[in-house]
Amino acid sequence: MKIAENGSALGDVLKHSPGPRVLVPTMGAFHPGHISLMHKAREISGPEGTVVVSIFVNPIQFDRASDLEAYPRPMESDLAACEAAGVDVVFTPVADSMYFPDRSVTVTETLLSRDLCGAARPGHFDGVCTVVLKLFLLSGCDVAVFGEKDFQQLAIIRRMVRDLDVPVEIVSCPTMREADGLAMSSRNTRLTPEQRADAPRILRTLKAAAELGDVEAILARAREEIEASPLARIDYLSLVDAETLQPVTDLVRPAVLATAVFYGEVRLIDHVDL
Ligand code: PAJ
Repeated sequence: MKIAENGSALGDVLKHSPGPRVLVPTMGAFHPGHISLMHKAREISGPEGTVVVSIFVNPIQFDRASDLEAYPRPMESDLAACEAAGVDVVFTPVADSMYFPDRSVTVTETLLSRDLCGAARPGHFDGVCTVVLKLFLLSGCDVAVFGEKDFQQLAIIRRMVRDLDVPVEIVSCPTMREADGLAMSSRNTRLTPEQRADAPRILRTLKAAAELGDVEAILARAREEIEASPLARIDYLSLVDAETLQPVTDLVRPAVLATAVFYGEVRLIDHVDL
């Protein structure tokens, strides 16, 4: 496994690497959800192709400096996990090597990023799109793998690729969950034991409400059951069109019931497809 610490080193490492080249963009602090993306990447690349994992805590997608600082960076164990997953190349740039101090170009998606996670986090998806496009260009990947857990991020990246003719195929992987249904996230370790025990109510509630068949009933029931917990506070709860991410009033097209819930300072997201 080779490690590259800036763009030009990555270019050197990849110069003679056989294709197809498959990229898994991450911010590190790996859990089994991330590892499943690496295995998918290997499946796509085949034994001969090249799997590249980027580990970069992207400063421009954080709206709060305290969040950026608190983000876990267990580099040694992350590298060991990449090695164990059979990754060929790990790209671990430092922020200084990714952004000019006077950078002035940003990729902005203007429709799908407005609501849901975009509403409370202005500029977040600009930061995501900008870094993802840079990672695509620096790695020269043919395929990139993303998790469905961040379904808004996935939809926005697909839209960027479509609208800017980015020659990268986007592949998605299902959300990996704990045994009790809680979506795996590096944030789960920040929950208190009481919060952790309560958090599976998110998926349980979304699934039960989704069965109701009527938009208003679904939203009312889901809100009621999440708010029934004194530990949980809803950031958003929305039923949106699966493609446009705009709120729906009927269920004629594929839709997504999505929520973000605060447990203390920790914000958890999840969704179910309808
Ligand atoms: P990060 O949060 O590290 O996630 C990296 C990838 O892992 C994303 O595609 C995410 O959807 C996926 N993932 C996270 N939890 C998962 C789970 N439980 N099951 C399956 N996949 C999961 O998302 C980012 O980083 C950043 O925004 C990034 C795209 C790297 C740009 O900086």
